[in-house]
This record gives sequence, structure tokens and C-alpha cells, in this order.
Amino acid sequence: MVKINNPFVIVGYKGERYFCDRKNETAKIVEALHNERNVTLVAPRRMGKTGLIHHVFEQVKRAENDVKCFYIDIYPTMSLAELSKLMASGIIGNLDSPSEAIWHKIQSFFGAFRPAISYDPLTGMPQLMLDVKPENEQLSLKQIFEYIAQSGRRCYIAIDEFQQIMEYGNANVEALLRSFIQRVPNVSFIFAGSRQHILQQMFALANRPFFHSAQMLSLGPIDQREYFAFAAGYFAKRNQELAPAEFDAIYTEMRGITWHINVVLNRLYAKPVQNITSNLVSDTIDEIVDEQHDFYQGLYHSLTYNEATLLRALARERTVKSPLAVAFSNRYNLPATSSIRTALRKLERLQLIEHELDSGFRVYDPLLARWLLRLRW
Ligand SMILES: Nc1ncnc2c1ncn2[C@@H]1O[C@H](COP(=O)(O)OP(=O)(O)O)[C@@H](O)[C@H]1O
Ligand SMILES: [Mg+2]
Repeated sequence: MVKINNPFVIVGYKGERYFCDRKNETAKIVEALHNERNVTLVAPRRMGKTGLIHHVFEQVKRAENDVKCFYIDIYPTMSLAELSKLMASGIIGNLDSPSEAIWHKIQSFFGAFRPAISYDPLTGMPQLMLDVKPENEQLSLKQIFEYIAQSGRRCYIAIDEFQQIMEYGNANVEALLRSFIQRVPNVSFIFAGSRQHILQQMFALANRPFFHSAQMLSLGPIDQREYFAFAAGYFAKRNQELAPAEFDAIYTEMRGITWHINVVLNRLYAKPVQNITSNLVSDTIDEIVDEQHDFYQGLYHSLTYNEATLLRALARERTVKSPLAVAFSNRYNLPATSSIRTALRKLERLQLIEHELDSGFRVYDPLLARWLLRLRW
């Protein structure tokens, strides 16, 4: 891994030096995969699922060199055909080291899909392209799983943003995938995603195909003490002091969300100061919110009056247990209950708010919440 200038990473996984804690979660996932159990990893956006998957694969590559690890993010896919193509390019060509014999095998296996090699524009790595038409998407996917099974290679496959399969508009998709997945005994899967309710229902309801097919792991915030030690350590190396109180202010306002905390720390780390004061922390967060202004404004104006008012009210209150209660709607002149309910559902679907059973409703993005607080009523 290359050495980087700022240890507070805000894009991708840059190696274990820059990865804080998650020891228990890493051990649990490694152990599950090793024992042929699938894992479902759920957490709110930007809590660190994708990073954790890469971190797990790093450990696996070191400890078990007979295992092949594959990561695919299916967020951009809209159909089984696209899922097939993604699996072909991300997995099939990389199962075995490239050779004439392997290429012949792939050609005869996938002949109907006119296999071709192309080069990834970013990495330059060769990838297998399949020509999959909507009418034969199921067959292509079946072949892909068969190919993986016949390779006999032990594989760990992580499918990130797994809830995306529910957008394919194919009523059968869960049952279909489940049946394919059952036929690859040499593969253990990680299913990850941020739509927690959708994934939980998929894996925890008895009438659904994926019921009990994977071990659930939900990822919370990184432990505050571990995070503080990690962060303060990097500051100390360059003779800067990050005191517990200032870290606490960041961790609390960013509600423990890894990406948001790293964004603030990344900025602070770039500032040539010796002491990180509470004013500096606050100004730094404001600076980030300022940069997001145009984006937040656009977002805000795309909402209906009811949705916008409700969002501001939620930002004011931080968390609201009963948004349909009279006291809350009177305080902010909210519309009738049925309209609030509609607006809540819409804001949830846009992932602008989140809902936890024990704490209540709140604005998901702490930076957006801060921006909303600046608006005058
Ligand atoms: N344990 C960690 N230590 C340090 N940075 C992390 C850690 N986990 C995630 N990150 C960083 O936080 C950001 C969000 O993490 P990511 O894994 O993309 O979240 P998710 O997949 O849950 O949306 C990324 O920039 C990643 O580098
Ligand atoms: Mg992710």
C-alpha cells in the first residue's frame, strides 16, 4: 500500500494503518467465512461496511492463500442481465490465472454469450465481457454460478449494496438468486447494504427465500475511545494535540458516523496549528457545511413545502420519537397527520432521515442538519 499524506481517509480503503479498530467485527466475519457461513452486514450509509469488507479480505489474503476474494458493488445494476455482466467481468476471468486453456474453457462454457476480453479503463486489468440479452439473463446467471462451482476454488464473494436486487423489477429475483447461491458449495458470501429494514426483512422473515441463510452483523459506530486513540495518535506524531473534549465534540455532532468524523479530522489535520481548540473544530465543520451549501440548497428546493418544513423541524429537535404527536406538529405548524406521514415516508425513501425504533426519527446527515439549523423560520 502507498503511503498517503492524510491518515483520515474519506474515499476507499487505504490499508490497515489507516483503518481504526473493528477488530471484533473483522474476527467474526473471518471466522464465519472460514466455516462456510454467509454473512449479512448492515449499517447506515458511511458507517464503514465497504471498508470493513476490504479489511477482512486483506486479512484473508494473508492467512488463507488458497482463498480467492471478490468484491462487487451492485448499486449501479438495474437488472439480472447487468448483474450477470458485472459478475462475469469481476469474477469469472479472475478465478484462474489467465492461460490459453482457461480462455478456451470460458469460450466453450459461455459461447452463447459471445465472451470477449476487454481492459478496465481504470486499472488496465483484463475482464471478461458477456453479451447478455434480457431474455437470457437467467440462463447467463445460472452459467456463471455453475462456472464458479466447477472451478472448485474456494471463494469469498462480497456483494455490496445487495438490497439493489429489489429494484430489478423481477418478482422472482430472491428465489432465483437463493437457488443459485445454494449450488456453489465452494463459495461463502458477504451480503452488505445500507437499507437496513429491507435487508433485515429479506434475511429474517420466515417466508422469504433468504431466510436464515446468513449470519446477521450490524455495524454500529466505531468505539469512541478506540477512535480517539487512533486520531490523537496521528496528530501527536506531528506534535499536534487533539484533546478528548474536542474529539468528543466531533464524534457527538457527527453521531459516530465514520465518514463524517474522518471528513472533519482530515480537514483539521491539514491545518498548521499546534492546538486544536473547540473554536477551530466548530469553524472547520462550518467550512465543510459552507462548501455543501449549493448542494444542500438544491436538495432543499427539490422538496415539497411539507417535506422541507418537517425536515427542518427534525433538525431542530435532533431526534423525535413521535413525529405524529400534536405537541410536535403544533410547535412547528406542521400539516395534518396524514400529510406528515406521507412526508416522513418520502424523506425516508430519499434516505434524508433515518428511523431507529428506540430513539426515533432524525436527519441522517449531520452536516445537512447543521445547514438546516442556519435557516430562519
Ligand atoms: N474502521 C475505519 N477506520 C478508518 N476509516 C474508516 C473505517 N471504516 C470506514 N472508514 C472510512 O469511512 C468512509 C466510509 O466508509 P465506507 O466503508 O465507504 O462506508 P459504507 O460502505 O458503510 O457506506 C470511507 O472513506 C472509509 O475509508
Ligand atoms: Mg459502502
